[in-house]
Amino acid sequence: MSSSLRFLGIAGSLRRASTNRGLLRAAQAALPAGTTMEIADLNDIPFYNADITEKPASVQRVFAQLAQADALVLACTEYNYSLAPALKNILDWASREPNNGLLAGKHVALMGAGGGMGTSRAQYHLRQVCVFLDLRPLNKPEVFANAFAGAFDSEGNLVDEKLKGLVGEQMKALSAAVAAAHG
Ligand SMILES: Cc1cc2nc3c(=O)[nH]c(=O)nc-3n(C[C@H](O)[C@H](O)[C@H](O)COP(=O)(O)O)c2cc1C
Repeated sequence: MSSSLRFLGIAGSLRRASTNRGLLRAAQAALPAGTTMEIADLNDIPFYNADITEKPASVQRVFAQLAQADALVLACTEYNYSLAPALKNILDWASREPNNGLLAGKHVALMGAGGGMGTSRAQYHLRQVCVFLDLRPLNKPEVFANAFAGAFDSEGNLVDEKLKGLVGEQMKALSAAVAAAHG
């Protein structure tokens, strides 16, 4: 692992003004020194299908980002009390790589913006998915954001200072967890 850390952010929502991608941008703006973060684009990722034997370029692009990432930041859009399909789908694609090499052992920060419960139900489903994928979600701090209470502007940017601080604390915790694991 290089001396600087690379995080990859993935959001479950595809819409242009997504508040969950807004949370990822807030995370990018609050990274500890020596850390960089890209945000994956899932708009052109097809549904996983075992009959697709040649990996589409879009999937290869995200796989390359996953391969380079020391840790993941998952913004867990909640649809009908669970994680949104776009996020589950890219995890499903990645899970089929040999030895689960793109995911196994990686530390993960979970966050989400949604209704009043802040995607907590979906995040706890995602934690269950992380068990099988051998991903290592941070326990704390948890980031549960209300998307409908003025914390985001009309473009999905996070404007709430308290939540920005919380996201920054989570990025620090993620960086510390990776550093502790790899020395
Ligand atoms: C199909 C669908 C199901 C939804 N179900 C939930 C839900 O169970 N819980 C919740 O908090 N919000 C739910 N919402 C509202 C989303 O949390 C809200 O649209 C949120 O802004 C989506 O994230 P985004 O801003 O990143 O697109 C749902 C939205 C859609 C479109």
